[in-house]
Amino acid sequence: MQRNNKNTIYLFVFALFHFLTSIKSENSTVLNSEYPWLRLPPTPQLPYPHHGQYAQINNISIWYTIYGPENGTPVLFLHGGLSNSDYWGLQVQQLQSTYKCILMDSRAQGRSSSSSANITYDLMTSDVVSLT
Ligand SMILES: *[C@@H]1O[C@H](CO)[C@@H](O)[C@H](O)[C@H]1NC(C)=O
Ligand SMILES: *[C@@H]1O[C@H](CO)[C@@H](O)[C@H](O)[C@H]1NC(C)=O
Ligand SMILES: *[C@@H]1O[C@H](CO)[C@@H](O)[C@H](O)[C@H]1NC(C)=O
Repeated sequence: MQRNNKNTIYLFVFALFHFLTSIKSENSTVLNSEYPWLRLPPTPQLPYPHHGQYAQINNISIWYTIYGPENGTPVLFLHGGLSNSDYWGLQVQQLQSTYKCILMDSRAQGRSSSSSANITYDLMTSDVVSLT
């Protein structure tokens, strides 16, 4: 009885594996196809001219740039993982006439450097607070 259960579990695991790998290959086929909504658009560019500069914060160089009126309501743009500030190019185009847009590359990403310190949310928060 116990042996049967074990075999059933093996069979289930095998079926699950087969199912998952078949989904993957099916998805690759779809991703390689010509459906435009499955392709990432090119990375936008930041409006020109941009005045990128570096701030020395927490032992690294944080790259940042600012658009819009000095006295505008500040909006801080924080990009996602494996990304950089350029991804905000389209949003900045729309907001820079009214808002003071502050963009920064997170540590170890984009134009910012990294250190031997482990990257934690506390450290990333400290980078942002120190910059602003
Ligand atoms: C393909 O991938 C997407 C997201 O990774 C997932 O939602 C979907 O269920 C997958 N399988 C098929 C057959 O499309
Ligand atoms: C910065 O470097 C100093 C000296 O190596 C170290 O003591 C400190 O913990 C570092 N700070 C951060 C935030 O990495
Ligand atoms: C980074 O994290 C690892 C795993 O938690 C730890 O072993 C290591 O000592 C940490 N390094 C520093 C510089 O804090």
